[in-house]
Amino acid sequence: MTLKAGFIGTGGISAKHLNAMKAMKDKVEIKALCDVSEDAARARAQEYGGNVYTDYKKMLDEDLDIAFICVPPDSHGDIEVQCAEKGLHMLVEKPVNLYLEDAIKANEAIKKAGVITSVGYLAGYNNVDLAVKKFLDGKTIGMIVSERWGGVPGDENHWWRVMDRSGGMLHEQATHQLNTMRYYAGDVVEVYKRDALRINKELPNHTVPDCEIVTLYFKSGAIGYITTTCTMINGGGWGRMDIIVEGHMRIQPGRNDLKVIPDGAADIVVSDEPVLDLDQSFIEAIIIGDRSLVIDNYENGLKTAAITLAANESARINKPVSVYQP
Ligand SMILES: NC(=O)c1ccc[n+]([C@@H]2O[C@H](COP(=O)([O-])OP(=O)(O)OC[C@H]3O[C@@H](n4cnc5c(N)ncnc54)[C@H](O)[C@@H]3O)[C@@H](O)[C@H]2O)c1
Repeated sequence: MTLKAGFIGTGGISAKHLNAMKAMKDKVEIKALCDVSEDAARARAQEYGGNVYTDYKKMLDEDLDIAFICVPPDSHGDIEVQCAEKGLHMLVEKPVNLYLEDAIKANEAIKKAGVITSVGYLAGYNNVDLAVKKFLDGKTIGMIVSERWGGVPGDENHWWRVMDRSGGMLHEQATHQLNTMRYYAGDVVEVYKRDALRINKELPNHTVPDCEIVTLYFKSGAIGYITTTCTMINGGGWGRMDIIVEGHMRIQPGRNDLKVIPDGAADIVVSDEPVLDLDQSFIEAIIIGDRSLVIDNYENGLKTAAITLAANESARINKPVSVYQP
């Protein structure tokens, strides 16, 4: 079976998925590429093949099986609804949308169509995450915290630094860490965020907060927080996650390893067996018809986006805000 794939948005992240599909060319044909910038779509077509479009609705007239949706947070419009109505399986890049109502509509259309979806989060597609998740199963988490501190991607014309386009660092970037926190600790029901823009004010067109701190209340009763800053434009970025868990210990999952503190408090074995990555899991799920291979489907992506959108609203009104639950 060869799945025919179309891409909507052929900028930076599309290359990762295009390379992954090229590596699976016995399973996937790159059939169509769409970008509102014809040059962007043509450049990718030269490298990967496929018909070029500037209007995704026209692209959807092609005979396709799957769509990769790789547009900025404010640009999803009704792309997912249209793809669902055409019966296309979808890999949607995170965050799923800047507008909660549009994401809710997309989720409903997806559920109605019964298509398989995946969101571009990486949590759970590696052995460290799997081992920690297994260890935490059934245990009481007291608190989970994370930091994502970095710089500002792109130049002064980039959508990332504009709050009305990206939703800010928490919604656009630290959404990865927050999704991982949700993967470990479950759903978040309420948030309270404070933010500031004091240091990056000197950068042109920069309207996203440069420091954010969010208190998180989980459905389980656990609490947590996440902080971000994009002030580290000259280097000095940093990140961490810490989970305070029953047994009086801390677990720090890293990218390739994990730490249990104090030493020896628990023995968490990390397998070295190969695991399917995000793209492979999505394609295998479709081919064998097993959606459980996908860790975060669209509804999970919606849950994570709902947390950061509620956090932004909380900062705006300076009050705790309940998180939408699908
Ligand atoms: N999973 C990850 O680790 C990861 C990494 C980078 C980016 N992303 C996400 O991927 C998304 C895109 O990021 P990027 O870095 O590729 O951005 P980008 O600006 O490089 O590319 C986005 C492309 O989408 C096009 N586009 C916008 N609206 C469109 C529409 N209606 N139809 C067709 N094309 C349209 C733009 O012209 C642009 O070429 C963002 O949501 C970002 O958060 C995820």
